[in-house]
Amino acid sequence: MNTLVRMVGMFLFLFLVNHVSEAYNCCPKCGSIDVPYPLSTDDNCGDPRYKVYCNHGILEFLSARGFYYKILSINPSAYKLIISPPPIKKGTCYSSDFSSEGLKLDENLPFNISTHNTVMLFNCTDRLLDSPLNCSSSSFCRQFEDNVVEGIGCKNTLCCHYLKDSAMTSHMIRIRAIGCTAYTSVVNMKPGSSFDSWTYGIELQWVPAN
Ligand SMILES: *[C@@H]1O[C@H](CO)[C@@H](O)[C@H](O)[C@H]1NC(C)=O
Ligand SMILES: *[C@@H]1O[C@H](CO)[C@@H](O)[C@H](O)[C@H]1NC(C)=O
Ligand SMILES: *[C@@H]1O[C@H](CO)[C@@H](O)[C@H](O)[C@H]1NC(C)=O
Repeated sequence: MNTLVRMVGMFLFLFLVNHVSEAYNCCPKCGSIDVPYPLSTDDNCGDPRYKVYCNHGILEFLSARGFYYKILSINPSAYKLIISPPPIKKGTCYSSDFSSEGLKLDENLPFNISTHNTVMLFNCTDRLLDSPLNCSSSSFCRQFEDNVVEGIGCKNTLCCHYLKDSAMTSHMIRIRAIGCTAYTSVVNMKPGSSFDSWTYGIELQWVPAN
């Protein structure tokens, strides 16, 4: 009887150990960046619903339109990660994801765009003036055009900014020829902050895995 109890106990112990480690089966590092659970670079690790990609040592997020964005940082305890805004093509005022109309997240996946992003739009058409966006001469986008631009063709364009808050779709940052042709984003922009203190990125958050 004693042996049986011990065997059952041992079995339960092994079962639990196995299960716990399975539930928190983290993926290996990608380049120099840790891939915390539940993010998954492979079917054998993480939670496959939280798919990210390790392409040649660079961790990337895939949009619904097939465009890859580099992951700059991950905060697993806040369920957040920051992706790089797409580069603006040299000598033009077009974001490199212009052909897919900007960033579009798959609504069936557990990711959305957080409410901490200040989006700047460039080379906009007049119809943007009727929008609630801030297209004034004091808009943050002016500072970007006047100071940050190097080799970028966004100079003296009609530009606007907005805080991507909860009143807006949390799955898209849209650009297009009849709107604006380029964009960038700053995470946690502080009022009155100057361009040299900005942290460029698009913060995404995910639904907790359990
Ligand atoms: C700005 O957008 C227009 C289309 O609205 C385009 O024809 C033009 O080339 C763009 N400007 C630059 C500098 O890319
Ligand atoms: C536009 O944004 C700037 C910078 O945040 C701010 O100073 C200004 O009051 C805003 N203008 C409007 C019309 O909201
Ligand atoms: C985005 O996802 C988070 C985490 O699931 C959720 O709390 C938040 O309400 C979502 N935001 C929007 C605007 O849907």
